[in-house]
Amino acid sequence: MSSRNRPLALVTGASNGIGYELALAFARGGFDLLATGRSTTIHAVEADFSSVGANVTTVQADLSTAEGTETLWKAVHDHAKPVEAGALNAGIGLGGAFLDNDLDEQLQLIEINISSVVRLTKYLADAMAHRGRGRILITSSISATLPTPYETVYGPSRAFTRMFALSLREELRGTGVTVTTLMPGATNSDFHARAGMNDTAFGPNEGKNDKAEIARQGFDALLTGKAEVVAGDRTTKRTALVNRLLPEPLKAAHHARKAKPRR
Ligand SMILES: NC(=O)c1ccc[n+]([C@@H]2O[C@H](COP(=O)([O-])OP(=O)(O)OC[C@H]3O[C@@H](n4cnc5c(N)ncnc54)[C@H](OP(=O)(O)O)[C@@H]3O)[C@@H](O)[C@H]2O)c1
Repeated sequence: MSSRNRPLALVTGASNGIGYELALAFARGGFDLLATGRSTTIHAVEADFSSVGANVTTVQADLSTAEGTETLWKAVHDHAKPVEAGALNAGIGLGGAFLDNDLDEQLQLIEINISSVVRLTKYLADAMAHRGRGRILITSSISATLPTPYETVYGPSRAFTRMFALSLREELRGTGVTVTTLMPGATNSDFHARAGMNDTAFGPNEGKNDKAEIARQGFDALLTGKAEVVAGDRTTKRTALVNRLLPEPLKAAHHARKAKPRR
């Protein structure tokens, strides 16, 4: 594909984990990239994406503040190409007891996982609807299918993104814009370590889903315009199905046993 014809994809959280793999999938799939992360790592990984053919613009922006999110949107706005596909994937977790966690950290999680997603989706969906086409992928989690004690703010933040994405998808029917929800199961990234959950059953990365496979399933679902995809292995997909049938208190008790810090 000539450089002029490559559509542009925006990927948030592209410096690490699932977002990094999503950005690679977009680059290999013929997209140029506007790739963003919180740390300077986003600039270090630029070459990984350009080496598979993408023209890459990297933006370091902190999505825990409205200013950071606006900085990113300005970069989107200033780009020569319109965004054809947007993967809003950046997110953080927070393990530990609700009463022990710091309130500012809990509110920061809401800023990153919810507020920045709403803000960016507002701008993106509006621009796409005006052009009459576009694809949006919003990362949620299998955590959206159950109460998540000891991740009491995190899980509900992903339940928000799931219902937000499904609601907007329905509103945008007929506009040419699709919204797809990505619901990964536990995945081998830095996510749980960064969430302070090494001392729980979620600590070890062994046995978790492969982040590249999560990204592949998300990218495919985006391209086909699916409503949502539970991404991961068969066990992950079966768990999501079973969760539809189980009572919430039972799922809460099970999750508490896995997520409660051992000390
Ligand atoms: N891993 C799992 O088990 C799992 C399961 C289900 C859903 N998810 C969801 O998948 C998404 C990606 O998680 P991951 O596993 O890839 O985690 P990760 O490896 O920790 O990567 C998180 C990404 O988000 C970026 N980010 C974090 N805080 C940010 C901020 N304030 N501003 C801008 N960017 C920020 C990080 O940037 P820097 O690295 O530059 O700081 C990084 O690129 C999250 O939304 C998470 O909720 C993860």
